[in-house]
Amino acid sequence: MNTLKNNEKSEYSILVIDDEESILKICKYVLEKAGYEVRTATSGFLGLEILQAVPKIDIVLTDLKMPNMNGHKVLQAVKRDWPHVEVIIMTGFATIEHAIDAMKAGAADFILKPLSGEQIRIAVDKCIEKIRLSRENKELRLAYEKLQEVKEMEEKFLAITSHELRTPVSHIKGYFGILSDDFVDQMDDTEVTECKNIINNAIQHMEELLTSMFDVIRFKQNRMQLRFEEVDLIKTLRQIQSEFRLDLEKRQIKLELDNSTNGLSIAADRLKVKVMLTELIKNAIKFTKDGGEINVKTELDEPFCHIFIKDNGIGIADSKQGKIFEPFYEVQPSDYHHTGDTTFMAGGLGIGLTQAKEIVKAHQGEIKVESQLGVGTVMIVTLPLKQEGE
Ligand SMILES: Nc1ncnc2c1ncn2[C@@H]1O[C@H](COP(=O)(O)OP(=O)(O)OP(=O)(O)O)[C@@H](O)[C@H]1O
Ligand SMILES: [Mg+2]
Repeated sequence: MNTLKNNEKSEYSILVIDDEESILKICKYVLEKAGYEVRTATSGFLGLEILQAVPKIDIVLTDLKMPNMNGHKVLQAVKRDWPHVEVIIMTGFATIEHAIDAMKAGAADFILKPLSGEQIRIAVDKCIEKIRLSRENKELRLAYEKLQEVKEMEEKFLAITSHELRTPVSHIKGYFGILSDDFVDQMDDTEVTECKNIINNAIQHMEELLTSMFDVIRFKQNRMQLRFEEVDLIKTLRQIQSEFRLDLEKRQIKLELDNSTNGLSIAADRLKVKVMLTELIKNAIKFTKDGGEINVKTELDEPFCHIFIKDNGIGIADSKQGKIFEPFYEVQPSDYHHTGDTTFMAGGLGIGLTQAKEIVKAHQGEIKVESQLGVGTVMIVTLPLKQEGE
Protein backbone atom coordinates (compact mmCIF):
# COMPACT_ATOMS: atom_id res chain seq x y z
CA MET A 1 0.00 0.00 0.00
CA ASN A 2 1.23 3.47 -0.92
CA THR A 3 1.21 5.02 2.57
CA LEU A 4 1.69 8.70 3.33
CA LYS A 5 4.96 10.26 4.42
CA ASN A 6 4.97 12.57 7.46
CA ASN A 7 5.31 15.76 5.40
CA GLU A 8 2.23 14.72 3.34
CA LYS A 9 0.27 14.16 6.54
CA SER A 10 0.45 17.89 7.32
CA GLU A 11 -2.12 18.37 4.52
CA TYR A 12 -4.68 16.56 6.70
CA SER A 13 -6.46 18.12 9.66
CA ILE A 14 -7.79 16.29 12.69
CA LEU A 15 -10.24 17.60 15.26
CA VAL A 16 -10.26 15.87 18.66
CA ILE A 17 -13.32 16.33 20.91
CA ASP A 18 -13.21 15.15 24.54
CA ASP A 19 -14.25 16.68 27.86
CA GLU A 20 -11.08 15.29 29.46
CA GLU A 21 -8.18 17.70 28.92
CA SER A 22 -5.62 14.92 29.46
CA ILE A 23 -7.03 12.90 26.53
CA LEU A 24 -6.92 15.98 24.29
CA LYS A 25 -3.29 16.50 25.27
CA ILE A 26 -2.28 12.90 24.48
CA CYS A 27 -4.07 12.92 21.11
CA LYS A 28 -2.61 16.29 20.13
CA TYR A 29 0.90 15.20 21.08
CA VAL A 30 0.75 11.84 19.27
CA LEU A 31 -0.95 13.10 16.11
CA GLU A 32 1.18 16.23 15.74
CA LYS A 33 4.26 14.07 16.15
CA ALA A 34 2.91 11.87 13.35
CA GLY A 35 2.75 15.00 11.15
CA TYR A 36 -0.97 15.91 11.23
CA GLU A 37 -2.48 19.33 11.88
CA VAL A 38 -4.53 19.00 15.08
CA ARG A 39 -7.28 21.06 16.72
CA THR A 40 -9.02 20.25 19.99
CA ALA A 41 -12.38 21.01 21.60
CA THR A 42 -13.59 20.30 25.12
CA SER A 43 -17.24 19.78 24.10
CA GLY A 44 -19.38 18.67 21.17
CA PHE A 45 -20.72 22.21 20.69
CA LEU A 46 -17.23 23.73 20.54
CA GLY A 47 -16.19 20.98 18.15
CA LEU A 48 -19.03 21.79 15.74
CA GLU A 49 -18.10 25.47 15.91
CA ILE A 50 -14.58 24.58 14.80
CA LEU A 51 -15.95 22.47 11.96
CA GLN A 52 -18.04 25.43 10.88
CA ALA A 53 -15.06 27.80 10.95
CA VAL A 54 -12.41 25.47 9.48
CA PRO A 55 -13.62 23.88 6.28
CA LYS A 56 -10.60 21.62 5.85
CA ILE A 57 -11.07 19.20 8.76
CA ASP A 58 -10.74 15.61 7.48
CA ILE A 59 -11.28 13.51 10.62
CA VAL A 60 -13.14 14.05 13.89
CA LEU A 61 -11.98 11.94 16.82
CA THR A 62 -14.69 12.14 19.44
CA ASP A 63 -15.33 10.74 22.88
CA LEU A 64 -18.68 9.00 23.19
CA LYS A 65 -19.65 9.94 26.75
CA MET A 66 -19.67 13.70 27.21
CA PRO A 67 -22.08 15.99 29.08
CA ASN A 68 -24.66 17.98 27.05
CA MET A 69 -23.74 16.75 23.59
CA ASN A 70 -22.51 13.18 23.48
CA GLY A 71 -20.46 11.51 20.74
CA HIS A 72 -23.56 10.09 18.99
CA LYS A 73 -24.96 13.60 18.56
CA VAL A 74 -21.61 14.84 17.25
CA LEU A 75 -21.52 11.95 14.77
CA GLN A 76 -25.08 12.69 13.63
CA ALA A 77 -24.34 16.40 13.10
CA VAL A 78 -21.08 15.71 11.25
CA LYS A 79 -22.66 13.15 8.92
CA ARG A 80 -25.54 15.52 8.22
CA ASP A 81 -23.61 18.76 7.63
CA TRP A 82 -20.12 17.58 6.61
CA PRO A 83 -20.67 14.13 5.09
CA HIS A 84 -17.11 14.03 3.66
CA VAL A 85 -15.60 14.20 7.20
CA GLU A 86 -14.78 10.80 8.78
CA VAL A 87 -15.52 10.19 12.46
CA ILE A 88 -13.56 7.93 14.82
CA ILE A 89 -15.19 7.15 18.15
CA MET A 90 -13.18 6.90 21.39
CA THR A 91 -14.88 4.89 24.08
CA GLY A 92 -14.35 2.88 27.25
CA PHE A 93 -14.76 -0.89 27.12
CA ALA A 94 -17.96 -0.68 29.15
CA THR A 95 -19.69 1.18 26.33
CA ILE A 96 -18.48 -0.95 23.45
CA GLU A 97 -22.04 -1.68 22.31
CA HIS A 98 -22.52 2.10 21.86
CA ALA A 99 -19.40 2.13 19.72
CA ILE A 100 -20.94 -0.56 17.52
CA ASP A 101 -24.10 1.53 17.21
CA ALA A 102 -21.91 4.47 16.20
CA MET A 103 -20.28 2.36 13.47
CA LYS A 104 -23.74 1.54 12.17
CA ALA A 105 -24.54 5.27 12.14
CA GLY A 106 -21.55 5.98 9.88
CA ALA A 107 -18.45 6.18 12.10
CA ALA A 108 -15.30 5.04 10.29
CA ASP A 109 -13.74 3.25 13.28
CA PHE A 110 -13.55 3.17 17.07
CA ILE A 111 -10.72 2.99 19.60
CA LEU A 112 -10.97 1.72 23.12
CA LYS A 113 -9.90 3.65 26.19
CA PRO A 114 -7.49 3.69 27.94
CA LEU A 115 -5.80 5.04 24.83
CA SER A 116 -2.27 4.23 23.74
CA GLY A 117 -0.38 6.56 21.42
CA GLU A 118 0.19 3.73 18.95
CA GLN A 119 -3.53 2.88 18.85
CA ILE A 120 -4.51 6.49 18.09
CA ARG A 121 -1.91 6.86 15.37
CA ILE A 122 -2.80 3.56 13.65
CA ALA A 123 -6.55 4.34 13.65
CA VAL A 124 -6.00 7.82 12.21
CA ASP A 125 -3.45 6.63 9.61
CA LYS A 126 -5.89 3.93 8.46
CA CYS A 127 -8.72 6.43 8.17
CA ILE A 128 -6.59 8.97 6.27
CA GLU A 129 -5.53 6.23 3.85
CA LYS A 130 -9.21 5.50 3.23
CA ILE A 131 -9.88 9.21 2.54
CA ARG A 132 -6.87 9.46 0.23
CA LEU A 133 -7.89 6.41 -1.77
CA SER A 134 -11.46 7.56 -2.13
CA ARG A 135 -10.25 11.00 -3.38
CA GLU A 136 -7.90 9.33 -5.83
CA ASN A 137 -10.75 7.15 -6.96
CA LYS A 138 -12.94 10.16 -7.52
CA GLU A 139 -10.21 11.90 -9.53
CA LEU A 140 -9.69 8.78 -11.63
CA ARG A 141 -13.41 8.46 -12.23
CA LEU A 142 -13.63 12.10 -13.36
CA ALA A 143 -10.61 11.68 -15.65
CA TYR A 144 -12.18 8.54 -17.10
CA GLU A 145 -15.49 10.30 -17.69
CA LYS A 146 -13.65 13.17 -19.43
CA LEU A 147 -11.81 10.67 -21.62
CA GLN A 148 -15.08 8.97 -22.54
CA GLU A 149 -16.56 12.36 -23.48
CA VAL A 150 -13.58 13.15 -25.72
CA LYS A 151 -13.85 9.71 -27.31
CA GLU A 152 -17.57 10.16 -27.89
CA MET A 153 -16.95 13.58 -29.45
CA GLU A 154 -14.20 12.14 -31.65
CA GLU A 155 -16.57 9.44 -32.91
CA LYS A 156 -19.28 12.00 -33.60
CA PHE A 157 -16.79 14.27 -35.34
CA LEU A 158 -15.72 11.43 -37.62
CA ALA A 159 -19.27 10.25 -38.32
CA ILE A 160 -20.63 13.72 -39.07
CA THR A 161 -17.72 15.15 -41.01
CA SER A 162 -17.29 12.05 -43.15
CA HIS A 163 -21.03 12.03 -43.84
CA GLU A 164 -21.12 15.73 -44.71
CA LEU A 165 -17.98 15.63 -46.83
CA ARG A 166 -18.98 12.51 -48.74
CA THR A 167 -21.65 14.33 -50.80
CA PRO A 168 -19.45 17.16 -52.16
CA VAL A 169 -16.54 14.77 -52.71
CA SER A 170 -18.71 12.37 -54.69
CA HIS A 171 -20.04 15.31 -56.75
CA ILE A 172 -16.54 16.48 -57.55
CA LYS A 173 -15.40 12.96 -58.41
CA GLY A 174 -18.44 12.15 -60.55
CA TYR A 175 -18.61 15.39 -62.52
CA PHE A 176 -14.85 15.62 -62.91
CA GLY A 177 -15.02 12.09 -64.33
CA ILE A 178 -17.62 13.22 -66.88
CA LEU A 179 -15.51 16.21 -67.91
CA SER A 180 -12.38 14.08 -68.29
CA ASP A 181 -14.19 11.47 -70.34
CA ASP A 182 -13.84 11.26 -74.11
CA PHE A 183 -17.59 11.97 -74.40
CA VAL A 184 -17.02 15.54 -73.29
CA ASP A 185 -16.64 16.41 -76.99
CA GLN A 186 -20.26 15.39 -77.52
CA MET A 187 -21.53 17.67 -74.71
CA ASP A 188 -22.79 21.14 -75.49
CA ASP A 189 -21.50 24.26 -73.70
CA THR A 190 -24.42 24.49 -71.28
CA GLU A 191 -23.91 20.92 -70.13
CA VAL A 192 -20.19 21.53 -69.59
CA THR A 193 -20.92 24.74 -67.66
CA GLU A 194 -23.46 22.90 -65.53
CA CYS A 195 -20.87 20.24 -64.61
CA LYS A 196 -18.34 22.93 -63.76
CA ASN A 197 -20.89 24.78 -61.61
CA ILE A 198 -21.69 21.64 -59.65
CA ILE A 199 -17.97 21.04 -59.01
CA ASN A 200 -17.54 24.66 -58.03
CA ASN A 201 -20.48 24.54 -55.60
CA ALA A 202 -19.15 21.36 -54.03
CA ILE A 203 -15.72 22.94 -53.50
CA GLN A 204 -17.36 26.02 -52.00
CA HIS A 205 -19.45 23.86 -49.67
CA MET A 206 -16.33 22.04 -48.48
CA GLU A 207 -14.59 25.36 -47.93
CA GLU A 208 -17.51 26.58 -45.81
CA LEU A 209 -17.43 23.38 -43.75
CA LEU A 210 -13.72 23.81 -43.10
CA THR A 211 -14.16 27.47 -42.13
CA SER A 212 -16.92 26.60 -39.64
CA MET A 213 -14.81 23.84 -38.13
CA PHE A 214 -11.85 26.16 -37.65
CA ASP A 215 -14.13 28.88 -36.26
CA VAL A 216 -15.49 26.52 -33.64
CA ILE A 217 -12.02 25.47 -32.55
CA ARG A 218 -10.89 29.12 -32.43
CA PHE A 219 -13.99 30.15 -30.47
CA LYS A 220 -13.48 27.28 -28.03
CA GLN A 221 -9.94 28.48 -27.42
CA ASN A 222 -11.30 31.89 -26.40
CA ARG A 223 -9.75 33.61 -29.30
CA MET A 224 -12.82 35.51 -30.38
CA GLN A 225 -12.16 39.16 -31.16
CA LEU A 226 -15.20 41.40 -30.87
CA ARG A 227 -15.74 44.76 -32.55
CA PHE A 228 -18.41 46.56 -30.59
CA GLU A 229 -20.86 48.94 -32.20
CA GLU A 230 -24.53 49.86 -31.86
CA VAL A 231 -26.55 46.97 -33.24
CA ASP A 232 -30.22 47.42 -34.09
CA LEU A 233 -31.67 44.02 -33.23
CA ILE A 234 -34.93 44.20 -35.17
CA LYS A 235 -33.09 45.47 -38.24
CA THR A 236 -30.64 42.54 -38.02
CA LEU A 237 -33.49 40.06 -37.57
CA ARG A 238 -35.33 41.58 -40.54
CA GLN A 239 -32.21 41.14 -42.68
CA ILE A 240 -31.96 37.48 -41.68
CA GLN A 241 -35.67 37.01 -42.38
CA SER A 242 -35.22 38.35 -45.91
CA GLU A 243 -32.16 36.17 -46.49
CA PHE A 244 -34.25 33.08 -45.68
CA ARG A 245 -37.29 34.34 -47.65
CA LEU A 246 -36.94 31.88 -50.54
CA ASP A 247 -36.33 28.90 -48.24
CA LEU A 248 -39.33 29.86 -46.13
CA GLU A 249 -41.57 30.24 -49.17
CA LYS A 250 -40.42 26.92 -50.59
CA ARG A 251 -41.26 25.16 -47.34
CA GLN A 252 -44.33 27.28 -46.56
CA ILE A 253 -43.03 28.12 -43.14
CA LYS A 254 -44.27 31.37 -41.65
CA LEU A 255 -41.57 33.39 -39.86
CA GLU A 256 -43.23 36.02 -37.75
CA LEU A 257 -41.13 38.86 -36.38
CA ASP A 258 -42.57 40.88 -33.53
CA ASN A 259 -41.63 44.50 -34.24
CA SER A 260 -42.87 45.91 -30.93
CA THR A 261 -39.36 46.68 -29.68
CA ASN A 262 -38.42 48.52 -32.87
CA GLY A 263 -35.24 50.54 -32.46
CA LEU A 264 -33.89 48.36 -29.65
CA SER A 265 -30.14 48.55 -29.99
CA ILE A 266 -27.34 46.91 -28.05
CA ALA A 267 -23.57 47.24 -27.89
CA ALA A 268 -22.35 44.17 -29.75
CA ASP A 269 -20.33 42.81 -32.63
CA ARG A 270 -22.82 43.16 -35.50
CA LEU A 271 -21.45 40.36 -37.69
CA LYS A 272 -21.11 37.88 -34.83
CA VAL A 273 -24.61 38.61 -33.51
CA LYS A 274 -25.92 38.09 -37.02
CA VAL A 275 -24.11 34.73 -37.32
CA MET A 276 -25.55 33.67 -33.94
CA LEU A 277 -29.15 34.62 -34.81
CA THR A 278 -28.82 33.10 -38.29
CA GLU A 279 -27.75 29.76 -36.79
CA LEU A 280 -30.70 29.77 -34.39
CA ILE A 281 -33.22 30.71 -37.08
CA LYS A 282 -31.69 28.20 -39.50
CA ASN A 283 -32.15 25.47 -36.88
CA ALA A 284 -35.75 26.54 -36.30
CA ILE A 285 -36.37 26.19 -40.07
CA LYS A 286 -34.46 22.90 -40.38
CA PHE A 287 -36.22 21.17 -37.53
CA THR A 288 -39.76 22.36 -38.35
CA LYS A 289 -41.96 20.51 -40.84
CA ASP A 290 -43.23 22.23 -44.00
CA GLY A 291 -46.14 24.51 -43.19
CA GLY A 292 -44.87 25.19 -39.65
CA GLU A 293 -44.48 28.45 -37.78
CA ILE A 294 -41.54 30.34 -36.31
CA ASN A 295 -41.93 33.27 -34.01
CA VAL A 296 -39.13 35.71 -33.21
CA LYS A 297 -39.57 38.22 -30.43
CA THR A 298 -37.30 40.62 -28.52
CA GLU A 299 -37.98 41.92 -25.05
CA LEU A 300 -36.37 44.74 -23.10
CA ASP A 301 -35.47 43.87 -19.52
CA GLU A 302 -33.00 46.59 -18.40
CA PRO A 303 -30.02 46.22 -18.29
CA PHE A 304 -30.59 43.21 -20.56
CA CYS A 305 -32.64 42.20 -23.56
CA HIS A 306 -34.01 38.79 -24.43
CA ILE A 307 -34.47 37.29 -27.87
CA PHE A 308 -36.93 34.41 -28.20
CA ILE A 309 -36.82 32.15 -31.25
CA LYS A 310 -39.78 29.83 -31.07
CA ASP A 311 -40.73 27.08 -33.47
CA ASN A 312 -43.41 24.39 -33.58
CA GLY A 313 -41.00 21.78 -34.92
CA ILE A 314 -39.86 18.35 -33.77
CA GLY A 315 -38.64 19.51 -30.34
CA ILE A 316 -35.74 18.14 -28.30
CA ALA A 317 -36.05 15.45 -25.59
CA ASP A 318 -35.22 16.64 -22.04
CA SER A 319 -32.25 14.28 -21.81
CA LYS A 320 -30.65 15.76 -24.96
CA GLN A 321 -31.13 19.44 -24.17
CA GLY A 322 -27.90 19.72 -22.17
CA LYS A 323 -25.85 18.25 -25.01
CA ILE A 324 -26.95 20.21 -28.07
CA PHE A 325 -24.46 23.03 -27.42
CA GLU A 326 -21.52 20.61 -27.50
CA PRO A 327 -19.52 20.61 -30.73
CA PHE A 328 -20.44 17.91 -33.27
CA TYR A 329 -23.50 16.86 -31.29
CA GLU A 330 -26.69 16.16 -33.18
CA VAL A 331 -29.77 14.51 -31.72
CA GLN A 332 -30.62 12.65 -34.94
CA PRO A 333 -28.12 10.15 -36.39
CA SER A 334 -26.21 11.56 -39.37
CA ASP A 335 -27.72 8.88 -41.65
CA TYR A 336 -31.03 10.76 -41.28
CA HIS A 337 -29.61 13.91 -42.85
CA HIS A 338 -31.45 15.32 -45.79
CA THR A 339 -29.35 17.22 -48.26
CA GLY A 340 -29.56 20.99 -48.44
CA ASP A 341 -29.20 23.67 -45.85
CA THR A 342 -32.75 24.43 -44.82
CA THR A 343 -34.79 21.44 -45.94
CA PHE A 344 -36.55 19.50 -43.17
CA MET A 345 -33.87 17.64 -41.13
CA ALA A 346 -31.11 19.00 -43.38
CA GLY A 347 -27.56 17.95 -42.55
CA GLY A 348 -24.90 19.92 -40.73
CA LEU A 349 -21.82 19.44 -38.61
CA GLY A 350 -23.52 19.96 -35.27
CA ILE A 351 -21.57 23.13 -34.57
CA GLY A 352 -24.12 25.89 -35.21
CA LEU A 353 -25.24 25.95 -31.58
CA THR A 354 -21.65 25.72 -30.30
CA GLN A 355 -20.84 28.81 -32.37
CA ALA A 356 -23.99 30.58 -31.17
CA LYS A 357 -23.20 29.81 -27.52
CA GLU A 358 -19.58 30.98 -27.79
CA ILE A 359 -20.71 34.25 -29.40
CA VAL A 360 -23.30 34.85 -26.67
CA LYS A 361 -20.73 34.03 -23.98
CA ALA A 362 -18.20 36.44 -25.48
CA HIS A 363 -20.87 39.15 -25.15
CA GLN A 364 -21.37 38.26 -21.44
CA GLY A 365 -24.78 36.84 -22.27
CA GLU A 366 -26.61 33.57 -21.83
CA ILE A 367 -28.43 31.13 -24.07
CA LYS A 368 -31.11 28.73 -22.88
CA VAL A 369 -33.30 26.12 -24.49
CA GLU A 370 -36.87 25.22 -23.61
CA SER A 371 -38.29 22.41 -25.65
CA GLN A 372 -40.82 19.63 -25.74
CA LEU A 373 -40.57 16.65 -28.02
CA GLY A 374 -43.16 16.87 -30.82
CA VAL A 375 -44.35 20.31 -29.70
CA GLY A 376 -41.51 22.71 -30.45
CA THR A 377 -38.51 24.60 -29.21
CA VAL A 378 -37.78 28.06 -27.83
CA MET A 379 -34.21 29.34 -27.84
CA ILE A 380 -33.79 32.24 -25.44
CA VAL A 381 -30.79 34.52 -25.79
CA THR A 382 -30.09 37.12 -23.11
CA LEU A 383 -27.63 39.88 -23.90
CA PRO A 384 -26.56 42.94 -21.91
CA LEU A 385 -27.59 46.22 -23.54
CA LYS A 386 -24.18 47.70 -22.80
CA GLN A 387 -20.79 46.11 -22.39
CA GLU A 388 -18.75 46.56 -19.19
CA GLY A 389 -16.38 49.49 -19.20
CA GLU A 390 -18.49 51.47 -21.61
N1 LIG B 1 -34.97 24.34 -33.07
C1 LIG B 1 -34.60 23.06 -32.93
N2 LIG B 1 -35.53 22.07 -32.90
C2 LIG B 1 -35.17 20.77 -32.75
N3 LIG B 1 -33.90 20.34 -32.63
C3 LIG B 1 -32.93 21.27 -32.64
C4 LIG B 1 -33.21 22.68 -32.79
N4 LIG B 1 -32.05 23.34 -32.74
C5 LIG B 1 -31.09 22.42 -32.59
N5 LIG B 1 -31.59 21.17 -32.53
C6 LIG B 1 -30.86 19.91 -32.31
O1 LIG B 1 -29.57 20.24 -31.84
C7 LIG B 1 -28.56 19.72 -32.70
C8 LIG B 1 -27.36 20.65 -32.70
O2 LIG B 1 -27.67 21.87 -33.35
P1 LIG B 1 -26.53 22.60 -34.17
O3 LIG B 1 -27.08 23.85 -34.74
O4 LIG B 1 -25.33 22.71 -33.30
O5 LIG B 1 -26.15 21.54 -35.31
P2 LIG B 1 -26.80 21.27 -36.74
O6 LIG B 1 -27.87 22.25 -37.03
O7 LIG B 1 -27.17 19.82 -36.78
O8 LIG B 1 -25.56 21.49 -37.73
P3 LIG B 1 -24.89 22.89 -38.13
O9 LIG B 1 -25.54 23.97 -37.34
O10 LIG B 1 -23.45 22.71 -37.80
O11 LIG B 1 -25.13 23.05 -39.59
C9 LIG B 1 -29.24 19.58 -34.05
O12 LIG B 1 -28.60 18.61 -34.86
C10 LIG B 1 -30.64 19.14 -33.61
O13 LIG B 1 -30.65 17.76 -33.32
MG1 LIG C 1 -27.51 24.32 -36.78
